[in-house]
Amino acid sequence: MRAGVRDIVMPGAPVEEMKKALERAATHSGPRVMQQGTLGVPGAVSTQRGKVVTVASPKGGVGKTTVSTNLAVGLAQRLPQSTVLVDLDVHFGDVGSALNITAEYSLPDMAHGPAAHDPLALKSYLFQHQTGLYVVPGSESPAAADAVTSKDVVNLLDTLAGQFKYVVVDTAPGLSEHTLAVLDQTDILVLVTSLDVPGVRGLRKELDTLRDIGLMVESRSVVLNFMHPSRGISVADVEASIDRKVDFQIPQSNSVPISVNQGIPLLQAGSRDPVAKQLKALVDAVDAGEKAGEKGRRFFDFGHKKEA
Ligand SMILES: Nc1ncnc2c1ncn2[C@@H]1O[C@H](COP(=O)(O)OP(=O)(O)OP(=O)(O)O)[C@@H](O)[C@H]1O
Ligand SMILES: [Mg+2]
Repeated sequence: MRAGVRDIVMPGAPVEEMKKALERAATHSGPRVMQQGTLGVPGAVSTQRGKVVTVASPKGGVGKTTVSTNLAVGLAQRLPQSTVLVDLDVHFGDVGSALNITAEYSLPDMAHGPAAHDPLALKSYLFQHQTGLYVVPGSESPAAADAVTSKDVVNLLDTLAGQFKYVVVDTAPGLSEHTLAVLDQTDILVLVTSLDVPGVRGLRKELDTLRDIGLMVESRSVVLNFMHPSRGISVADVEASIDRKVDFQIPQSNSVPISVNQGIPLLQAGSRDPVAKQLKALVDAVDAGEKAGEKGRRFFDFGHKKEA
């Protein structure tokens, strides 16, 4: 089935059955129109395209994977099987380890071949996490990941957005070719920075670059991670530097590395600590934005509307 088999006819089948099978095969071999919601899962979208929610940052190690895994788990807990998490930190993605999963298939398997365009084939490759979240894990080997092109990434996200309400994407640091391709498909952008001067300066440059290249998304939010009073810079300093408000402030806390080492995201564990509270607020904002969007209103009050 993964190779695209659609039918089986037994050797001794009557001519009439053979004829019907051939007719079905002829119908399917024409140009394929992607059907939405064909995964047949409760949360899958039926008529509307899902939202691509991308978590990105200019610098590494600032908390992208922490934010994306918790955001995806939080959305999947709201509406089981509505969400897929895609690890597009193509070479060194660690979503699998943050979720403590060992998957049979990973990004290169899904970015090539029948799965890339066929929702039914794709379903058999996705990993299903115990929270009801679907996962496209990152490649096991950086060499295999090299074969995944930006075009593959665009195709994969397009197919997934036809099937899921939320496609949450974790990215590598910076603006690689892959990340730019993802940003082009993004509806909701979550930018993460750590509370330090290089991180904040990097974010400023990234915001300027996204403006210069004319990237439009329905909404964007800024998450300030590693909040700590003794870091020597304040939220006001950060806001002055990036010339916009910070939307979520995640405190520095040992609960984060502990959850990563256990492979159980804080929101899966039902943690109520201050980090989990902020992550939950982000889930609320994305989910509420989607509901508001369904009524024709704008996502988040700080968003930039995507231009036609
Ligand atoms: N609020 C926090 N408090 C304490 N530790 C944190 C916090 N957020 C993230 N960390 C830790 O920082 C490390 C980097 O986090 P994470 O992997 O989420 O960052 P990343 O931006 O995805 O990194 P990379 O760019 O390498 O993919 C992890 O060990 C994580 O446990
Ligand atoms: Mg990461």
